[in-house]
Amino acid sequence: MDIQRSVYIKTFGCQMNERDSEVIAQLLGENGYVETTSMESADLVILNTCSIRAKAAQKAMSLVGQLRKQKSQQSQLKICVAGCVAQHEGEQLLRRMNHIDLVVGTQNIYQIGELLDQVDQGKKLTAIDMVDHYRIPAFLPTSGTGTSTASSKFVTIMQGCNNFCAYCVVPYTRGREVSRSVSDIVDEVKVLLDSGVSEITLLGQNVNSYGQTNSVTPDDSPFSFAQLLKRVATLSGLRRLRFTTSNPKDLSVELMQCFKDIPQLCPQFHLPVQAGSDKVLRRMNRKYSIAKYLDLVAQLRSYRPNIALTTDIIVGFPGETEQDFQETMNILEEVRYHGSFSFKYSDRPGTAAENFPDKVPEEQKKERLMRFQKRQNEISLERNHEYIGTIMELLVEQVSETSIKGRTVTNHIVHVDKQNSDLRPGDFISAKIYHAGQHSLKGEMVENNEGTRHRKSPFNL
Ligand code: SAH
Ligand code: SF4
Ligand code: F3S
Repeated sequence: MDIQRSVYIKTFGCQMNERDSEVIAQLLGENGYVETTSMESADLVILNTCSIRAKAAQKAMSLVGQLRKQKSQQSQLKICVAGCVAQHEGEQLLRRMNHIDLVVGTQNIYQIGELLDQVDQGKKLTAIDMVDHYRIPAFLPTSGTGTSTASSKFVTIMQGCNNFCAYCVVPYTRGREVSRSVSDIVDEVKVLLDSGVSEITLLGQNVNSYGQTNSVTPDDSPFSFAQLLKRVATLSGLRRLRFTTSNPKDLSVELMQCFKDIPQLCPQFHLPVQAGSDKVLRRMNRKYSIAKYLDLVAQLRSYRPNIALTTDIIVGFPGETEQDFQETMNILEEVRYHGSFSFKYSDRPGTAAENFPDKVPEEQKKERLMRFQKRQNEISLERNHEYIGTIMELLVEQVSETSIKGRTVTNHIVHVDKQNSDLRPGDFISAKIYHAGQHSLKGEMVENNEGTRHRKSPFNL
């Protein structure tokens, strides 16, 4: 390719999409594109979309709408819609919005280079193949593009979901569960660690069921998720290991014990409960009861007492009564989550709940969400106060003139006044916490036994 063209990538949705955008950026880099942060001046705009709630899909589609004007003024502009809305709506998108050039589904991103070659020849294309025995290609990162910070990286270990929770679009947008081979995962993690990365987050829609599908490559004997964690933890240079997300129904004792056995596994667990009422959970098709969930929480805390738990909540699922909602408030009091993501139930096309008759009125959903979030904010603040006076290790993410932003093993953000001017993102420091807010902590730097450790510079720094 003679001329260098620029690509602007906008990512909506979860970490899976963020990781996919990094893959897309790398593949396009190999095809002669450079990434730009300006949508207005880009030759190619890629919107990596999310379909989890109606609002998320609308947000992405309204940006696609805005691009019509830009395209009318800049006819060379190519527009690509990728991700979960692309997968879900497919060809329809091209028909509805004829300024789009390419629609790429979630299993087609690795072909983006060839697809764009065809677009260059004047074609409009939809590539949304979805097969049950999809293989996520082996992929070695070469550059630190994307949203995960340079010293903390995402690695996809599986894709898709077989659970069909009644409200959820993911099984339709990501297809059936497939696990990557252990050797592909280990190779990818090794490349990252060798380049100076020290924190890895393993990603999948339901990591707990890693390896339960028969799609791991023949060179690997079946591995459970716990075995995979242990394998990854042996790799040199790894200081912090995390994973997300987990459906509680598949949380094994073997996995919970990893919090005791693997020191690098961070004491932090995102365990979405969704609702506090067994009746609602049954209708959601979640396949666990609140008693079972609370037992899991107790076990996790016995293996790692300082574990910080977070969750996802849906309020106003069809049929949710005030009594059911009260049970969601009760679980908040019982577990006292460090934080949570809470959403109003949103109808998604093609899901079972879309056709449930007893929808909760919008006003009621709004009111319940506010009540939930108000109490969660209070609990988060109380939880954060527990850290005051403690010394926490921080992985530095940002350094400005006057302050440092770092992250603890429990996934808390800590702001520290800057004293040491040599600090860079990727360094580890220790801070004594003196102030707690709802969403972050403040600390002052203290010398730890090792002193401030500088690591090899990760790529991109
Ligand atoms: N795999 C994870 C969830 C991934 S989706 C799990 O099983 O727990 C992220 C979150 O979006 C979900 O946990 C849920 O709380 C929320 N969500 C999914 N579909 C939704 C819908 N239709 N309406 C509102 N929230 C939804
Ligand atoms: Fe969606 Fe998670 Fe349920 Fe899968 S397990 S259907 S991703 S909520
Ligand atoms: Fe959204 Fe797709 Fe992730 S629907 S939450 S981007 S799997």
